[in-house]
Amino acid sequence: MLILDFGGQYNQLIARRVRECGVYCEVKSYKTSMDEIRAMKPAGIIFTGGPNSVYLEESPRISKEIFELGLPVLGICYGIQLMAHLLGGGVTTAATSEYGKTKTFYKSSCALFDGFPAEGISWMSHTDYIDRLPEGFVSAAHTADCPVAAMENPARKFYGMQFHPEVMHTENGLKMLHNFLYKVCGCTGDWTMESYAETSVKAIRKKVGDGKVLLALSGGVDSSVAAALLEKAVGNQLTCIFVDHGLMRKNEGDEVEAAFGNSGMNFIRVNAGERFLGKLAGVSEPEEKRKIIGEEFIRVFEEEAKKIGTVDYLVQGTIYPDVIESGAGDAAVIKSHHNVGGLPDTVDFKEIIEPLRPLFKDEVRKLGLELGLKEYLVWRQPFPGPGLAIRIIGEITPEKVAMLQDADYIFRDEIAKAGLDRDIHQYFAVLTNMRSVGVMGDGRTYDYTLALRGVTTTDFMTADFARIPYDVLGSVSSRIINEVKGINRIVYDVTTKPPATVEWE
Ligand code: XMP
Repeated sequence: MLILDFGGQYNQLIARRVRECGVYCEVKSYKTSMDEIRAMKPAGIIFTGGPNSVYLEESPRISKEIFELGLPVLGICYGIQLMAHLLGGGVTTAATSEYGKTKTFYKSSCALFDGFPAEGISWMSHTDYIDRLPEGFVSAAHTADCPVAAMENPARKFYGMQFHPEVMHTENGLKMLHNFLYKVCGCTGDWTMESYAETSVKAIRKKVGDGKVLLALSGGVDSSVAAALLEKAVGNQLTCIFVDHGLMRKNEGDEVEAAFGNSGMNFIRVNAGERFLGKLAGVSEPEEKRKIIGEEFIRVFEEEAKKIGTVDYLVQGTIYPDVIESGAGDAAVIKSHHNVGGLPDTVDFKEIIEPLRPLFKDEVRKLGLELGLKEYLVWRQPFPGPGLAIRIIGEITPEKVAMLQDADYIFRDEIAKAGLDRDIHQYFAVLTNMRSVGVMGDGRTYDYTLALRGVTTTDFMTADFARIPYDVLGSVSSRIINEVKGINRIVYDVTTKPPATVEWE
């Protein structure tokens, strides 16, 4: 499937839902040329939502030629309005906007709504609506305020929904997408991680031949899965360099070594903790910390790579959300993200291999399990490239690193014990640069305040703070205070993103 992005906020979600149905899809900007679209040979096209009004001159449009390709088209939200507008229907501003859960009546004979009740809740978010259907179309759903909540032209396989089938608030939304994919477009659902592993192992073997492959292993999910895949494909032609910058979570360096150090690949661990801490001494500005770590990382990596000599391929763990370009243009850079494996462009190699490029995170995890990686590696929560350096506010010292590692370990341990580790998408401790007065035993303390952060999110672009039960927070707090010297106060971060970010720096 080709998903044409018109700038809506749920675009990646549409793609993930399509993949959940076992159908491969790609998200492209609405500016993609007709020639490119033809060359992709999709089974069908989905127009996403978007924040604009189709009747305004500056709104994103697409050539009418798209309807002459002989392909099924499904328009969602802005997408249905665009379809109506381009095909000669009318779109105008409604007296009442519809927002949120809305009772909707479906036409059961419409292919999209086949197989479930004709009445249900859908998730609406619109002010414009279709007041005149284009020729050849009939309404396929309505609500109290919206006469065309869905429309169809089955002869040409054109469909539209004003509501969002991709969000979970729409009852049977996934079934609607499934119906479009299978009943209208004729997809068969052969996109599985088992078949992906098989085909990419073959493709990698063919490409690499007897060449040498180099991979920067961070121990994160993406680089670990990439390593497992490459190891399966080319075995000891692969060398993994794991730069341990000393700012990993407690025990993590050893865990990575245990997972990969004894497999068939060549595994090099560089213990560069002192070197990184040396460079970071006296630095407290967040962007500067990030820059220093990024640059130092490349330097260490290069030094190791030089020892290996020329390699033919460099593996990068890029995944699909990094690749998708928003149809609405570039987002502002809030933080200079550093991803290991994303930077060393001065290493001598012929070509880059990005074996996870088409995959979403949940697919990467499935692939990891398919390849036999341990659950704890596959389910590891996201960890920033610069590591604990951006979770220690202000200057970094070895003592602070140790303090934070211990406190963070206790937090994670208690969350796991409470069975919350899969529900909270990311959780960690932050060592603030603030000290306050406390009392312990009979004495006054003047120690650091530790902040706990836990978030729930689908894409890390927005996030809510996790509602961790007070009892759990209580156990974490008392354990940290009792077990970690130098911390005498614990606070929980209750800000969403935006306005805050997930990390503190
Ligand atoms: P923010 O703090 O930007 O974080 O809201 C969003 C997600 O990105 C992770 N993060 C990073 N990941 N390199 C990474 O690979 C980085 O430099 C980096 N900075 C933040 C963060 O942990 C969260 O999951």
